[in-house]
Amino acid sequence: MYGVLVTNWSKAPIYVELDNPSIPDPGTVQIKVTATGLHSVVRSRASGKHFSSGDLPHVPGVDGVGKTSDGQSVYFSTFNTGGSYCDVVNVPRQAISPLPAGVDEIQVAAYTNPGLSSWMALKTRTNNLPPNFTVLIMGTTSASGTFAVSVARALGAGRVIGCARNTKKMSSLGLDEMIELREPVADTDFSMARDVDVVLDYLYGAPTEQLFKSPLASSRRVQYVHIGGLAGLEFEFARCPHSIKEHHHCGVCSGQFRYGRAGGRTPKAA
Ligand SMILES: NC(=O)c1ccc[n+]([C@@H]2O[C@H](COP(=O)([O-])OP(=O)(O)OC[C@H]3O[C@@H](n4cnc5c(N)ncnc54)[C@H](OP(=O)(O)O)[C@@H]3O)[C@@H](O)[C@H]2O)c1
Repeated sequence: MYGVLVTNWSKAPIYVELDNPSIPDPGTVQIKVTATGLHSVVRSRASGKHFSSGDLPHVPGVDGVGKTSDGQSVYFSTFNTGGSYCDVVNVPRQAISPLPAGVDEIQVAAYTNPGLSSWMALKTRTNNLPPNFTVLIMGTTSASGTFAVSVARALGAGRVIGCARNTKKMSSLGLDEMIELREPVADTDFSMARDVDVVLDYLYGAPTEQLFKSPLASSRRVQYVHIGGLAGLEFEFARCPHSIKEHHHCGVCSGQFRYGRAGGRTPKAA
């Protein structure tokens, strides 16, 4: 079979002939790959910078859609079992979800990872959100952040606030309110997010530090989920004197998601 291989973290991947995968055991399904996603995590892993990059040589790709030997179309994750940028993959049975008839397989390959990021965050990393909760999406013009607007509404958000630097794009996303991320970031006014219940953060770095410096939700518990790092990989929590009083921090990673536990709901959610 053919596939894509990274042999040097600072060089472009190459298209090469690879060994066919072994005959699958009963707990494994062999899939002929139709399409795979070029997500941020795929690029990050292929440059050797992601915590899950592993060793060289590296086959990029963390998921995709394809067909099983009996012709069933499935979405599959290879996050923990090898790359998906090749003709055929062997995947643990619990890492696949059958696709409903009629879905656009290319869209499923492209959007499941960005779509799942907010779905996982709201379904598995938050608890007891009030009815019609208010969500702030940091980095809402990214593919994942754009998707998060619809996911949040589908999961009960009553007010969706976006924060990004591109106000033109933000105004097309159906947000209730927009916060323009300014340069310098200290000029960003987060007062609109005062009563937020949950933050989905695709930015991190300086914008997140500025958010936590703002006098947010003094009267209620704020749930904060770290999803991405478009603006930076760290910030100094100790530099945030106005930090919200009660907060619950956690992160999500598509590699930790048990697709089997979603019971086939993953493509529907996407
Ligand atoms: N944990 C998970 O399971 C998971 C899943 C999916 C994605 N992620 C992470 O979430 C983040 C978003 O991923 P994505 O693939 O959706 O991103 P993307 O579509 O590639 O986002 C690109 C957009 O982000 C905005 N952006 C980039 N740098 C920025 C900065 N310094 N400040 C403000 N905005 C900036 C820009 O929007 P404008 O041009 O409009 O300003 C840019 O067009 C990434 O860090 C990714 O690794 C995590």
